[in-house]
Amino acid sequence: MSYNLLKGKKGIIFGALNDKSIAWKAAEAAAREGAEIVLTNTAIAMRFGTTSELGAKLGAPVIAADATVVADLEKLVDGAMEHFGGKFDFVLHSVGMSPNIRKGVPYENLNYEYLNKTLDISAISFHKLLKVLYAKDALNEWGSVVALTYIAADRVVEGYSDMADAKALLQAITRNFGAIYGRHRNVRVNTVSQSPTMTSAGQGISGMDRMFDYAQKLSPLGNALAEDCADYIVTLFSDLTRKVTMQNLYHDGGFSSSITCKDIL
Ligand SMILES: NC(=O)c1ccc[n+]([C@@H]2O[C@H](COP(=O)([O-])OP(=O)(O)OC[C@H]3O[C@@H](n4cnc5c(N)ncnc54)[C@H](O)[C@@H]3O)[C@@H](O)[C@H]2O)c1
Repeated sequence: MSYNLLKGKKGIIFGALNDKSIAWKAAEAAAREGAEIVLTNTAIAMRFGTTSELGAKLGAPVIAADATVVADLEKLVDGAMEHFGGKFDFVLHSVGMSPNIRKGVPYENLNYEYLNKTLDISAISFHKLLKVLYAKDALNEWGSVVALTYIAADRVVEGYSDMADAKALLQAITRNFGAIYGRHRNVRVNTVSQSPTMTSAGQGISGMDRMFDYAQKLSPLGNALAEDCADYIVTLFSDLTRKVTMQNLYHDGGFSSSITCKDIL
């Protein structure tokens, strides 16, 4: 059911790799709510994933960009402004990757070249994106930028390794850039801290199945699905949340406030 929450709004969605991706569901939900969208992902992800299928389904152009490359982000934002015929209203950063996790390198023995990549892809890319959006004055007043994070930024979740450090940096960038973007342009910047979710990135984390079950038991409302996350993101892009900024917003069925439950005791 559509509430037309994003009627007349336009935005860019990063990170729809396949139909399990949180970004895929967010793009579908944004389109359902009346938004026009530009999709983006890396050229490699576009070759191996199904981003273009989603583009065809939603009538959304797909522009390749590596989120760590400022020149790519500039081309993406220019391309989106050309497509939309001017400024736009929202951006979803749904991007993350850790070579240390991919290659099974344990946290106590991190490979620092890989760590730099983790931080660049999963956190610094958000600063680069905000910097390009700000410099080009690409977002309308009361625009909204959302990035996705995980509770391992705030508490220890063993196995999440250097992604936890990257998410802590992502949340800090959200606050610091959010202050500037809010004060000077009335643009919101927030992170959504999502439940463990069975996506390509999620399933790459060691012990994810057990974490998923544990979080499911501990969360009074159960784990939030990718579709639930998409609906929440839509509200953050809408005009109904115009004074929410610089926040890390838990979208986790109550997990972040629970330390135990009958099933676990
Ligand atoms: N799955 C979970 O349990 C979970 C929980 C909380 C937060 N998150 C976060 O949600 C976001 C989306 O992940 P997902 O779970 O939908 O997995 P996903 O694997 O579907 O999405 C990750 C996306 O990042 C893209 N990406 C990687 N490197 C990139 C780069 N250099 N430039 C541009 N894009 C790049 C990938 O191509 C992919 O589309 C990530 O930030 C992730 O950390 C996931």
